[in-house]
Amino acid sequence: MDSAALLEKLKTRTGLNEGHVQTLVKLERSMGPMASEVALAFYDYLGRDPEMHEILWAVPGRVERLYQSFARWYKELFSGQYDAAYAQRRAQIGLIHAAVGVKPSYIMPAMGIVQELSLEHMRNSLRGSEVYESVEAFEKIIAIESALIQEGYAAAMEEGFRMGLKGSREETLVAGAKGLLERAY
Ligand code: HEM
Repeated sequence: MDSAALLEKLKTRTGLNEGHVQTLVKLERSMGPMASEVALAFYDYLGRDPEMHEILWAVPGRVERLYQSFARWYKELFSGQYDAAYAQRRAQIGLIHAAVGVKPSYIMPAMGIVQELSLEHMRNSLRGSEVYESVEAFEKIIAIESALIQEGYAAAMEEGFRMGLKGSREETLVAGAKGLLERAY
């Protein structure tokens, strides 16, 4: 998987241009300080689903670690640095989720919650004219994030098939993701 090449395609497909990048960087001032609050609300939402609750609490210290890594991820949405290293980290996030048994179908609704929490804050903290351009730029980076994470899942599945496993779709996905992660480190 060439995540850097995919990122460039995604920028074209979403129409993310320099103006949007500057808007995202400007947004950091109001959205960056919200990262921990968004992380808390996000894991509170996930934890209400019995299947996701089980995954989150399966390992001691996992949720505490996640608050930090999610908040870091959230701040990076507004970093303005959407380059090869960024693409690689995002595809890796897809692999990590696949490896710990987070099903692909959990991701988009969860991304919807990130959007809901963020749009509410934008509506409350920005002036009228700023809201539209901010929402437009934010939706583009979220579409890019989602596609890169999805690509991680697709690569994991492909790898699972290449390994010639005979298990279920879920087992193939987990094994493929673990295989790719082992090779990456
Ligand atoms: C919008 C979607 C999501 C985002 C942006 C997100 C963000 C992240 C990030 C940044 C990490 C750390 C990856 C790393 O170690 O480099 C992570 C790991 C993880 N996430 Fe998510 N996540 C999302 C959805 C979910 C969902 C739906 C679940 C369901 C339970 C979940 C459970 C986990 C788990 C279990 C880990 C591994 C934690 C560990 O043991 O280190 N995530 N996530």
